[in-house]
Amino acid sequence: MHYGDPDFSVLVQDWLIVKDRGGAGVRADGGRQRAAGMEGSLAERVPAEPFHRVTPLLESWALSQVAGVPVFLKYENVQIAGSFKIRGIGHFCQQMAKRGCRHLVCSSAVTGQEVAGSNQQGGNAGIAAAYSARKLGIPVTIVLPESTSMQVVRRLQGEGAEVLLTGKVWDEANARAQELATRDGWVNVSPFDHPLIWGRPCQPCSGAEGVAGDPSGGCGAGRGGGGLLAGVTAGLLEVGWQQVPIVAMETRGAHSFNAALQAGRLVTLPDITSVARSLGAKTVAARALECAKECEVLSEVVEDREAVGAVQRFLDDERMLVEPACGAALAAVYSDILGRLQAEGRLSPTLASVVVIVCGGNNISSQQLQELRTQLDCR
Ligand SMILES: Cc1ncc(COP(=O)(O)O)c(C=O)c1O
Repeated sequence: MHYGDPDFSVLVQDWLIVKDRGGAGVRADGGRQRAAGMEGSLAERVPAEPFHRVTPLLESWALSQVAGVPVFLKYENVQIAGSFKIRGIGHFCQQMAKRGCRHLVCSSAVTGQEVAGSNQQGGNAGIAAAYSARKLGIPVTIVLPESTSMQVVRRLQGEGAEVLLTGKVWDEANARAQELATRDGWVNVSPFDHPLIWGRPCQPCSGAEGVAGDPSGGCGAGRGGGGLLAGVTAGLLEVGWQQVPIVAMETRGAHSFNAALQAGRLVTLPDITSVARSLGAKTVAARALECAKECEVLSEVVEDREAVGAVQRFLDDERMLVEPACGAALAAVYSDILGRLQAEGRLSPTLASVVVIVCGGNNISSQQLQELRTQLDCR
């Protein structure tokens, strides 16, 4: 079925949520708005400006106290569409629209109840793709695992996306997205694995974003499929700071980068068992391993309890609520990973400053945080 086919028009106008392989569809509003936005040449309407914003880079008194070194926070949690994902994905979608793409499809890491009783969700890549598609006036299909909650589905529908539920984890949804993208005029938006996504215009550490000063510091970044790591690497290379170490943080159960680094090759985890589902790619992108050759990348794994504890402490310190995926990066400070790396001689004992990328995330509420804390026995 192609865009322009009669069947497809029905799909666009009704905004079905399609449960793959015969499940019942759920209707939602909003289709007419998108259909109206389809008039005129798509390529001509692609805005020159990027979709993402330059986010604040501010020193945190509280985190600096904890780390014993000035800690700067890159506030990607106040980014358009709720996370850094819009940087790469927005750029990719704009480029594809210029090249005549007529339908975008994107898979996104999301979970419902199956992870040790957690109802934590991801879906930030999907939200970024749906936002970009709405701005571009292009239809978009977001493919998510079957466990996805209605909360995420409704959020995506609100952006005008068609939602397709299939498979247990992201990797299965991704396979379906790639299959759909073989249709005429359809383009797959990888959540993290494309040069246009991690390339220079998209990364949060460039000079244009205000990261400047003494380059002896370190950078903390949450690592999922590797898009953020690749973007940070691109930013450091751009400003000639390849000697600045990057601390790539993962949670156990979503530690495909750490496993790959140790093995010296890509490793596929049997499952994603961490509650930080936005970090949940069973296999990291090959580009992430290359980054470790181009910059100094220190891979660290924390427990879910530490990531969730960091979310709580960050809420109290900075009055901002972020996902456990982001908590993994914050745990570099709160779990004193930086101090340990210094003691081990792997980070300079005289760091001038540290930048932590507060990668954000849409899918967390105060209730979810409390449930996670109870589930993980966080004090
Ligand atoms: C909040 C958040 N942090 C970190 C990541 C990991 O990013 P990447 O897959 O680009 O490595 C994601 C991915 O969706 C995310 O949503």
